[in-house]
Amino acid sequence: MSIYRLGHVEVRVPDLELASAYYTEVLGLIEVARQGNSVYLKGWDEHDHHSVILTYAPRYGIEHIAWKCDNVDDLQLYETKLEKYGCHVERIPAGEELAMGDGIRFETPSGHHMELYHEMEKVGNGLPKLNPPPVRDDLIGIAPPRLDHTLLLAENVGDAGHFMKEALDFRMTEQLVNGEGHQLIVFLERSHTPHDVAFATGTDGGLHHIAFHLDNWIEVGNAADTLTMNGIEIDIGPTRHGLTRGHTIYFFDPCGNRNEVFSGGYYVDPDFEPITWTEDQFGKALFFYEGKINEQFVNRHT
Ligand SMILES: [Fe+2]
Repeated sequence: MSIYRLGHVEVRVPDLELASAYYTEVLGLIEVARQGNSVYLKGWDEHDHHSVILTYAPRYGIEHIAWKCDNVDDLQLYETKLEKYGCHVERIPAGEELAMGDGIRFETPSGHHMELYHEMEKVGNGLPKLNPPPVRDDLIGIAPPRLDHTLLLAENVGDAGHFMKEALDFRMTEQLVNGEGHQLIVFLERSHTPHDVAFATGTDGGLHHIAFHLDNWIEVGNAADTLTMNGIEIDIGPTRHGLTRGHTIYFFDPCGNRNEVFSGGYYVDPDFEPITWTEDQFGKALFFYEGKINEQFVNRHT
């Protein structure tokens, strides 16, 4: 009984039409629904109704992050744990959020709005369950199969990680520490991957990026072609992270939210012993080939 993966993220966009055109035609997510000021999207191989919500807001950034639980009883379990931790928890009745069942909502000590839920309407991945082909033939753009993880910002990364571990049972996979042993970046997982969420030092409530899974390094190269041919601003890459070992490109949606495509990583057992990077290796930890961070890594975010 627990959280098993990142379910969905709600991203703020100052121009909903521009953003939805980019997310469907260049990134290649599939538009599932529109309601009010929001557009609901999914990766092609996801079965749930949506994994990304774009919502109109004057300023870009992250509105909420939602985690999927194994069992509906997990909501009560985590409500108790969160309240014990000092969080105010609100119940979300089924149907309040489009296609979503019962949930709980709370604010983390790092100022992020998070939700837990168990049920979401299934729309399928467009492939038959009997003798399916391996891929759809109507995909456009980069077309990642699914949402992978998010990197959030926190003034106190140690506290942010502690909360995820103690209140929500996340496991730490990697950390980057300064000379005094304080965490500057921390990576946490529930899905046996290097990370479902990470926190880097920055403004509370901030977003560094949302990342989409690609199957391999060739797909990352193809994504770079697609981004370049569409005139999308690339932040860095294609390259490789030291942290997580992932192959990556960072780039920006037309509203300023940083996106990532991510492939690789490694399998994480529940008893995995965390990896530590030291601040003198900061550059290689972030971008293994370049060995240094670009100015935008720390200066451009929400
Ligand atoms: Fe990432």
